[in-house]
Amino acid sequence: MNEMVEACKAFVADDPNLTVYEVLRLLRILEGETTIGGIACKMEVLSVMAALGFLYYKGMLKVNSERLTVGLTSKVEWDVKSLVELEIRGTVYSFPRAESLEDTLRKRDMGIIYEFSQLPINRDSLMRKFAFMQSFQDVDGKEMIFIGDDDFLSVTCSLLGRPRRVVVVDLDERLLEGIRELSEKYGLEIETYKHNLVHPLPEELQGSFDTFCTDSPHCLGGILLFVSRGVSALKRGIETTGYFVFQTVNEPLLMTFETRQRLLKLIINDMNGVIQGMLPASIKYTTPRNEDEKLMALFLEATRRPNLEEYYKHVEEALKPSSKFIEFYPKFSMEASMITRLVFKDPKPLIEGEYDKKAEEKYGPIYSWTIIEQHAAKEK
Ligand SMILES: C[S@@+](CC[C@H](N)C(=O)[O-])C[C@H]1O[C@@H](n2cnc3c(N)ncnc32)[C@H](O)[C@@H]1O
Repeated sequence: MNEMVEACKAFVADDPNLTVYEVLRLLRILEGETTIGGIACKMEVLSVMAALGFLYYKGMLKVNSERLTVGLTSKVEWDVKSLVELEIRGTVYSFPRAESLEDTLRKRDMGIIYEFSQLPINRDSLMRKFAFMQSFQDVDGKEMIFIGDDDFLSVTCSLLGRPRRVVVVDLDERLLEGIRELSEKYGLEIETYKHNLVHPLPEELQGSFDTFCTDSPHCLGGILLFVSRGVSALKRGIETTGYFVFQTVNEPLLMTFETRQRLLKLIINDMNGVIQGMLPASIKYTTPRNEDEKLMALFLEATRRPNLEEYYKHVEEALKPSSKFIEFYPKFSMEASMITRLVFKDPKPLIEGEYDKKAEEKYGPIYSWTIIEQHAAKEK
Protein backbone atom coordinates (compact mmCIF):
# COMPACT_ATOMS: atom_id res chain seq x y z
CA MET A 1 0.00 0.00 0.00
CA ASN A 2 2.77 2.40 0.92
CA GLU A 3 4.41 1.62 -2.40
CA MET A 4 1.30 2.76 -4.23
CA VAL A 5 1.02 5.97 -2.19
CA GLU A 6 4.70 6.76 -2.67
CA ALA A 7 4.44 6.11 -6.43
CA CYS A 8 1.49 8.48 -6.70
CA LYS A 9 3.20 11.11 -4.56
CA ALA A 10 6.10 11.08 -6.99
CA PHE A 11 3.70 12.63 -9.49
CA VAL A 12 1.34 14.66 -7.33
CA ALA A 13 3.43 16.38 -4.73
CA ASP A 14 0.92 18.72 -3.18
CA ASP A 15 -2.34 16.84 -2.64
CA PRO A 16 -2.81 16.69 1.14
CA ASN A 17 -5.44 14.00 0.74
CA LEU A 18 -3.18 11.53 -1.02
CA THR A 19 -2.90 9.23 1.97
CA VAL A 20 -2.98 5.51 2.69
CA TYR A 21 -6.49 5.89 3.98
CA GLU A 22 -7.76 7.58 0.84
CA VAL A 23 -6.03 5.04 -1.38
CA LEU A 24 -7.72 2.29 0.61
CA ARG A 25 -11.05 3.97 0.12
CA LEU A 26 -10.34 4.19 -3.60
CA LEU A 27 -9.55 0.45 -3.74
CA ARG A 28 -12.76 -0.21 -1.91
CA ILE A 29 -14.67 1.69 -4.58
CA LEU A 30 -12.76 -0.12 -7.34
CA GLU A 31 -13.79 -3.49 -5.92
CA GLY A 32 -17.05 -2.72 -7.64
CA GLU A 33 -17.44 -1.42 -11.17
CA THR A 34 -17.39 2.38 -11.45
CA THR A 35 -16.95 5.13 -14.00
CA ILE A 36 -13.95 7.37 -13.41
CA GLY A 37 -16.25 10.34 -12.87
CA GLY A 38 -18.24 8.24 -10.41
CA ILE A 39 -15.32 7.85 -8.02
CA ALA A 40 -15.92 9.72 -4.78
CA CYS A 41 -12.80 10.25 -2.71
CA LYS A 42 -11.02 13.18 -1.17
CA MET A 43 -8.04 12.99 -3.51
CA GLU A 44 -7.70 15.39 -6.42
CA VAL A 45 -8.51 14.20 -9.94
CA LEU A 46 -4.79 14.12 -10.75
CA SER A 47 -4.07 11.85 -7.79
CA VAL A 48 -6.94 9.54 -8.69
CA MET A 49 -5.55 9.35 -12.22
CA ALA A 50 -2.08 8.60 -10.84
CA ALA A 51 -3.53 5.80 -8.70
CA LEU A 52 -5.47 4.36 -11.65
CA GLY A 53 -2.29 4.48 -13.74
CA PHE A 54 -0.36 2.67 -11.02
CA LEU A 55 -2.93 -0.13 -10.89
CA TYR A 56 -3.15 -0.31 -14.66
CA TYR A 57 0.59 -0.69 -15.19
CA LYS A 58 0.69 -3.35 -12.49
CA GLY A 59 -2.00 -5.27 -14.37
CA MET A 60 -4.45 -4.79 -11.52
CA LEU A 61 -7.05 -2.67 -13.29
CA LYS A 62 -9.61 -3.90 -15.76
CA VAL A 63 -11.08 -1.33 -18.07
CA ASN A 64 -14.38 -1.60 -19.89
CA SER A 65 -14.35 1.11 -22.53
CA GLU A 66 -17.84 0.22 -23.74
CA ARG A 67 -19.39 0.74 -20.33
CA LEU A 68 -16.83 3.44 -19.46
CA THR A 69 -15.96 1.65 -16.25
CA VAL A 70 -12.91 0.56 -14.31
CA GLY A 71 -12.50 -2.00 -11.55
CA LEU A 72 -9.90 -4.25 -9.93
CA THR A 73 -8.90 -7.47 -11.69
CA SER A 74 -8.92 -9.40 -8.43
CA LYS A 75 -10.23 -9.13 -4.89
CA VAL A 76 -8.23 -7.13 -2.37
CA GLU A 77 -7.10 -8.84 0.79
CA TRP A 78 -7.99 -6.36 3.47
CA ASP A 79 -5.50 -6.30 6.28
CA VAL A 80 -6.83 -3.07 7.74
CA LYS A 81 -10.46 -3.90 7.41
CA SER A 82 -11.67 -1.87 10.33
CA LEU A 83 -10.19 1.30 8.86
CA VAL A 84 -11.86 0.81 5.54
CA GLU A 85 -15.10 -0.15 7.18
CA LEU A 86 -15.14 3.37 8.56
CA GLU A 87 -16.48 4.51 5.24
CA ILE A 88 -20.07 5.49 5.53
CA ARG A 89 -22.19 3.91 2.86
CA GLY A 90 -25.56 5.01 1.61
CA THR A 91 -28.44 3.19 3.17
CA VAL A 92 -30.92 1.38 1.01
CA TYR A 93 -34.34 2.65 1.83
CA SER A 94 -37.62 1.00 1.17
CA PHE A 95 -40.29 3.59 0.71
CA PRO A 96 -43.71 4.14 -0.77
CA ARG A 97 -44.23 5.82 -4.16
CA ALA A 98 -41.00 4.31 -5.53
CA GLU A 99 -42.33 4.40 -9.08
CA SER A 100 -43.13 8.13 -8.92
CA LEU A 101 -39.61 8.74 -7.71
CA GLU A 102 -38.20 6.90 -10.74
CA ASP A 103 -40.47 9.08 -12.87
CA THR A 104 -39.04 12.16 -11.16
CA LEU A 105 -35.48 11.07 -11.87
CA ARG A 106 -36.33 10.50 -15.54
CA LYS A 107 -37.93 13.93 -15.84
CA ARG A 108 -34.98 15.53 -14.07
CA ASP A 109 -32.55 14.14 -16.62
CA MET A 110 -32.68 17.12 -18.96
CA GLY A 111 -29.03 18.00 -19.52
CA ILE A 112 -27.16 20.49 -17.40
CA ILE A 113 -26.46 24.18 -18.01
CA TYR A 114 -22.85 24.80 -16.97
CA GLU A 115 -23.38 28.55 -16.73
CA PHE A 116 -25.86 28.00 -13.90
CA SER A 117 -23.44 25.65 -12.18
CA GLN A 118 -25.96 22.82 -12.44
CA LEU A 119 -25.00 19.31 -11.41
CA PRO A 120 -27.71 17.12 -9.89
CA ILE A 121 -26.90 14.76 -7.07
CA ASN A 122 -27.26 11.04 -7.67
CA ARG A 123 -30.19 8.91 -6.56
CA ASP A 124 -28.51 7.60 -3.44
CA SER A 125 -27.54 11.12 -2.34
CA LEU A 126 -31.08 12.31 -2.95
CA MET A 127 -32.39 9.56 -0.66
CA ARG A 128 -29.81 10.24 2.02
CA LYS A 129 -30.54 13.95 1.94
CA PHE A 130 -34.27 13.43 2.28
CA ALA A 131 -33.75 10.90 5.11
CA PHE A 132 -31.38 13.30 6.88
CA MET A 133 -33.87 16.18 6.74
CA GLN A 134 -36.76 13.94 7.71
CA SER A 135 -34.81 12.59 10.68
CA PHE A 136 -34.67 16.14 12.09
CA GLN A 137 -38.40 16.57 11.46
CA ASP A 138 -37.73 19.38 9.01
CA VAL A 139 -40.10 18.10 6.32
CA ASP A 140 -43.48 16.93 7.64
CA GLY A 141 -45.84 19.79 8.38
CA LYS A 142 -43.21 22.38 7.41
CA GLU A 143 -43.18 25.29 4.98
CA MET A 144 -40.09 24.71 2.86
CA ILE A 145 -38.27 26.79 0.26
CA PHE A 146 -35.71 25.42 -2.20
CA ILE A 147 -33.14 27.98 -3.29
CA GLY A 148 -32.20 26.46 -6.67
CA ASP A 149 -33.31 22.89 -7.26
CA ASP A 150 -31.81 21.02 -10.19
CA ASP A 151 -31.88 17.98 -7.87
CA PHE A 152 -35.72 17.97 -7.72
CA LEU A 153 -35.37 17.56 -3.97
CA SER A 154 -38.58 19.58 -3.65
CA VAL A 155 -40.43 16.84 -5.55
CA THR A 156 -38.69 14.09 -3.58
CA CYS A 157 -39.65 15.69 -0.25
CA SER A 158 -43.24 16.16 -1.44
CA LEU A 159 -43.51 12.58 -2.68
CA LEU A 160 -41.90 10.90 0.32
CA GLY A 161 -42.80 13.31 3.12
CA ARG A 162 -45.74 15.54 4.00
CA PRO A 163 -44.59 19.16 3.87
CA ARG A 164 -47.27 21.83 4.37
CA ARG A 165 -45.97 24.15 1.63
CA VAL A 166 -43.17 23.80 -0.94
CA VAL A 167 -41.73 26.65 -3.02
CA VAL A 168 -38.91 26.39 -5.56
CA VAL A 169 -36.92 29.41 -6.73
CA ASP A 170 -34.66 28.94 -9.74
CA LEU A 171 -33.45 30.73 -12.83
CA ASP A 172 -33.96 27.81 -15.18
CA GLU A 173 -37.45 27.72 -16.68
CA ARG A 174 -36.95 24.16 -18.12
CA LEU A 175 -36.44 22.81 -14.67
CA LEU A 176 -39.37 24.72 -13.15
CA GLU A 177 -41.59 23.42 -15.93
CA GLY A 178 -40.49 19.83 -15.12
CA ILE A 179 -41.25 20.36 -11.43
CA ARG A 180 -44.69 21.84 -12.26
CA GLU A 181 -45.53 18.85 -14.47
CA LEU A 182 -44.61 16.36 -11.74
CA SER A 183 -46.45 18.44 -9.17
CA GLU A 184 -49.60 18.37 -11.26
CA LYS A 185 -49.29 14.67 -12.05
CA TYR A 186 -48.88 13.66 -8.41
CA GLY A 187 -50.99 16.40 -6.81
CA LEU A 188 -48.12 17.98 -4.90
CA GLU A 189 -49.01 21.69 -5.14
CA ILE A 190 -45.42 22.86 -5.48
CA GLU A 191 -45.13 26.57 -6.23
CA THR A 192 -42.39 27.72 -8.61
CA TYR A 193 -40.75 31.12 -9.01
CA LYS A 194 -38.45 32.04 -11.87
CA HIS A 195 -36.00 34.38 -10.21
CA ASN A 196 -32.35 35.36 -10.45
CA LEU A 197 -30.85 35.10 -6.98
CA VAL A 198 -28.48 37.99 -7.55
CA HIS A 199 -31.61 39.99 -6.69
CA PRO A 200 -33.33 39.70 -3.28
CA LEU A 201 -36.24 37.26 -3.07
CA PRO A 202 -39.69 38.63 -3.97
CA GLU A 203 -41.25 40.36 -0.98
CA GLU A 204 -43.96 37.72 -0.52
CA LEU A 205 -41.37 34.95 0.01
CA GLN A 206 -39.40 36.75 2.69
CA GLY A 207 -39.87 35.76 6.32
CA SER A 208 -42.33 32.95 5.46
CA PHE A 209 -40.62 29.54 5.79
CA ASP A 210 -39.55 27.02 8.45
CA THR A 211 -36.76 25.50 6.38
CA PHE A 212 -34.64 26.44 3.41
CA CYS A 213 -32.62 24.06 1.35
CA THR A 214 -29.85 24.89 -1.10
CA ASP A 215 -26.98 23.29 -2.97
CA SER A 216 -25.26 26.40 -4.22
CA PRO A 217 -22.25 26.80 -6.51
CA HIS A 218 -19.28 25.55 -4.50
CA CYS A 219 -17.37 28.73 -3.80
CA LEU A 220 -17.50 31.39 -1.10
CA GLY A 221 -19.58 33.96 -3.04
CA GLY A 222 -22.03 31.33 -4.30
CA ILE A 223 -22.61 29.76 -0.90
CA LEU A 224 -22.96 33.10 0.89
CA LEU A 225 -25.42 34.40 -1.70
CA PHE A 226 -27.65 31.30 -1.82
CA VAL A 227 -27.58 30.85 1.96
CA SER A 228 -28.37 34.57 2.45
CA ARG A 229 -31.43 34.26 0.21
CA GLY A 230 -32.48 31.19 2.16
CA VAL A 231 -32.03 33.01 5.46
CA SER A 232 -34.09 35.97 4.20
CA ALA A 233 -36.95 33.53 3.57
CA LEU A 234 -37.03 32.21 7.16
CA LYS A 235 -39.79 33.09 9.63
CA ARG A 236 -38.86 35.35 12.55
CA GLY A 237 -39.46 34.75 16.22
CA ILE A 238 -39.35 30.94 16.10
CA GLU A 239 -36.60 28.37 15.62
CA THR A 240 -35.99 27.69 11.92
CA THR A 241 -33.53 25.64 9.91
CA GLY A 242 -31.55 25.67 6.70
CA TYR A 243 -29.55 23.14 4.70
CA PHE A 244 -26.54 23.93 2.57
CA VAL A 245 -23.67 21.97 1.10
CA PHE A 246 -19.96 22.63 1.15
CA GLN A 247 -16.72 20.88 0.37
CA THR A 248 -14.92 19.99 3.55
CA VAL A 249 -11.60 19.15 1.95
CA ASN A 250 -8.86 21.55 0.90
CA GLU A 251 -9.15 22.81 -2.62
CA PRO A 252 -6.48 25.30 -3.58
CA LEU A 253 -8.78 27.51 -5.67
CA LEU A 254 -12.24 27.13 -4.25
CA MET A 255 -12.15 25.90 -0.68
CA THR A 256 -8.97 26.43 1.24
CA PHE A 257 -8.88 26.04 4.99
CA GLU A 258 -9.08 29.84 5.31
CA THR A 259 -12.07 30.03 2.95
CA ARG A 260 -13.99 27.46 4.97
CA GLN A 261 -13.09 29.26 8.17
CA ARG A 262 -14.31 32.58 6.74
CA LEU A 263 -17.49 30.98 5.40
CA LEU A 264 -18.43 29.41 8.72
CA LYS A 265 -17.55 32.56 10.69
CA LEU A 266 -19.84 34.63 8.47
CA ILE A 267 -22.68 32.14 8.76
CA ILE A 268 -22.34 31.93 12.52
CA ASN A 269 -21.39 35.50 13.44
CA ASP A 270 -23.21 37.54 10.80
CA MET A 271 -26.19 35.36 9.93
CA ASN A 272 -26.70 34.05 13.49
CA GLY A 273 -26.73 30.39 12.44
CA VAL A 274 -25.56 27.41 14.45
CA ILE A 275 -24.42 24.15 12.86
CA GLN A 276 -26.52 21.34 14.21
CA GLY A 277 -25.93 18.25 12.15
CA MET A 278 -23.71 17.19 9.27
CA LEU A 279 -23.97 14.10 7.10
CA PRO A 280 -20.47 12.93 6.18
CA ALA A 281 -19.56 12.03 2.59
CA SER A 282 -23.14 12.78 1.84
CA ILE A 283 -23.45 14.17 -1.66
CA LYS A 284 -22.25 12.66 -4.88
CA TYR A 285 -23.14 14.31 -8.15
CA THR A 286 -24.20 12.60 -11.34
CA THR A 287 -21.53 12.71 -14.00
CA PRO A 288 -22.95 13.46 -17.43
CA ARG A 289 -22.18 10.60 -19.85
CA ASN A 290 -20.29 12.83 -22.28
CA GLU A 291 -17.95 13.86 -19.46
CA ASP A 292 -17.42 10.25 -18.44
CA GLU A 293 -16.60 9.50 -22.09
CA LYS A 294 -14.03 12.31 -22.12
CA LEU A 295 -12.41 11.02 -18.93
CA MET A 296 -12.27 7.46 -20.21
CA ALA A 297 -10.84 8.60 -23.58
CA LEU A 298 -8.16 10.57 -21.76
CA PHE A 299 -7.32 7.58 -19.57
CA LEU A 300 -7.18 5.13 -22.49
CA GLU A 301 -5.00 7.50 -24.51
CA ALA A 302 -2.64 7.85 -21.55
CA THR A 303 -2.38 4.10 -21.02
CA ARG A 304 -0.82 3.77 -24.48
CA ARG A 305 2.35 5.21 -22.97
CA PRO A 306 5.11 2.70 -22.25
CA ASN A 307 5.38 3.38 -18.53
CA LEU A 308 3.82 5.11 -15.56
CA GLU A 309 6.01 8.24 -15.87
CA GLU A 310 4.96 8.82 -19.46
CA TYR A 311 1.37 7.98 -18.59
CA TYR A 312 1.31 10.58 -15.86
CA LYS A 313 2.93 13.28 -18.03
CA HIS A 314 0.19 12.74 -20.56
CA VAL A 315 -2.60 12.93 -17.96
CA GLU A 316 -1.17 16.10 -16.48
CA GLU A 317 -0.95 17.81 -19.88
CA ALA A 318 -4.38 16.65 -20.99
CA LEU A 319 -6.06 17.80 -17.77
CA LYS A 320 -4.43 21.22 -17.81
CA PRO A 321 -6.95 23.11 -19.91
CA SER A 322 -9.61 23.65 -17.30
CA SER A 323 -13.06 22.55 -18.28
CA LYS A 324 -16.15 24.29 -16.94
CA PHE A 325 -17.18 20.96 -15.60
CA ILE A 326 -15.79 21.09 -12.11
CA GLU A 327 -14.91 17.43 -11.72
CA PHE A 328 -12.55 17.82 -14.62
CA TYR A 329 -10.60 20.58 -13.14
CA PRO A 330 -7.48 18.75 -11.96
CA LYS A 331 -7.32 20.65 -8.70
CA PHE A 332 -10.92 20.02 -7.81
CA SER A 333 -11.47 17.23 -5.33
CA MET A 334 -13.55 14.22 -6.31
CA GLU A 335 -14.92 14.00 -2.80
CA ALA A 336 -18.57 14.04 -2.05
CA SER A 337 -19.60 17.23 -0.23
CA MET A 338 -21.13 17.59 3.18
CA ILE A 339 -24.78 18.35 3.83
CA THR A 340 -24.92 20.78 6.71
CA ARG A 341 -27.94 21.65 8.83
CA LEU A 342 -28.15 25.13 10.31
CA VAL A 343 -30.46 26.28 13.05
CA PHE A 344 -31.57 29.91 13.48
CA LYS A 345 -33.36 31.84 16.17
CA ASP A 346 -32.74 35.32 14.87
CA PRO A 347 -31.86 34.82 11.18
CA LYS A 348 -30.05 37.66 9.45
CA PRO A 349 -28.97 37.42 5.81
CA LEU A 350 -25.40 38.57 5.16
CA ILE A 351 -26.25 39.76 1.65
CA GLU A 352 -29.50 41.69 1.76
CA GLY A 353 -29.53 43.70 -1.46
CA GLU A 354 -28.21 42.91 -4.94
CA TYR A 355 -25.10 40.80 -5.39
CA ASP A 356 -23.32 43.68 -7.07
CA LYS A 357 -19.71 44.57 -7.90
CA LYS A 358 -19.10 45.60 -4.30
CA ALA A 359 -20.27 42.23 -2.97
CA GLU A 360 -18.21 40.47 -5.60
CA GLU A 361 -15.10 42.40 -4.55
CA LYS A 362 -15.69 41.25 -0.98
CA TYR A 363 -16.69 37.62 -1.45
CA GLY A 364 -15.64 36.79 -5.02
CA PRO A 365 -17.70 35.54 -7.98
CA ILE A 366 -20.78 33.43 -7.32
CA TYR A 367 -19.82 30.72 -9.79
CA SER A 368 -16.85 28.43 -9.25
CA TRP A 369 -16.13 28.18 -12.95
CA THR A 370 -15.62 31.97 -13.06
CA ILE A 371 -12.89 31.55 -10.46
CA ILE A 372 -11.37 28.69 -12.41
CA GLU A 373 -11.46 30.68 -15.66
CA GLN A 374 -9.93 33.72 -14.00
CA HIS A 375 -7.16 31.51 -12.64
CA ALA A 376 -6.57 29.87 -16.02
CA ALA A 377 -6.37 33.31 -17.69
CA LYS A 378 -3.82 34.46 -15.09
CA GLU A 379 -1.68 31.37 -15.69
CA LYS A 380 -1.48 32.06 -19.41
C1 LIG B 1 -26.08 26.21 -8.38
S1 LIG B 1 -26.70 24.63 -8.82
C2 LIG B 1 -25.74 23.57 -7.76
C3 LIG B 1 -24.95 22.47 -8.42
C4 LIG B 1 -23.77 21.94 -7.66
N1 LIG B 1 -23.87 22.14 -6.27
C5 LIG B 1 -22.49 22.57 -8.16
O1 LIG B 1 -21.88 23.42 -7.51
O2 LIG B 1 -22.07 22.25 -9.25
C6 LIG B 1 -28.27 24.60 -8.04
C7 LIG B 1 -29.39 25.32 -8.76
O3 LIG B 1 -29.21 26.72 -8.73
C8 LIG B 1 -29.76 27.28 -9.92
N2 LIG B 1 -29.14 28.58 -10.15
C9 LIG B 1 -27.88 28.86 -10.53
N3 LIG B 1 -27.68 30.18 -10.61
C10 LIG B 1 -28.84 30.77 -10.23
C11 LIG B 1 -29.24 32.12 -10.08
N4 LIG B 1 -28.40 33.13 -10.33
N5 LIG B 1 -30.49 32.35 -9.68
C12 LIG B 1 -31.36 31.34 -9.43
N6 LIG B 1 -31.02 30.04 -9.53
C13 LIG B 1 -29.78 29.76 -9.95
C14 LIG B 1 -29.44 26.25 -10.97
O4 LIG B 1 -30.30 26.35 -12.08
C15 LIG B 1 -29.60 24.95 -10.21
O5 LIG B 1 -30.86 24.42 -10.37
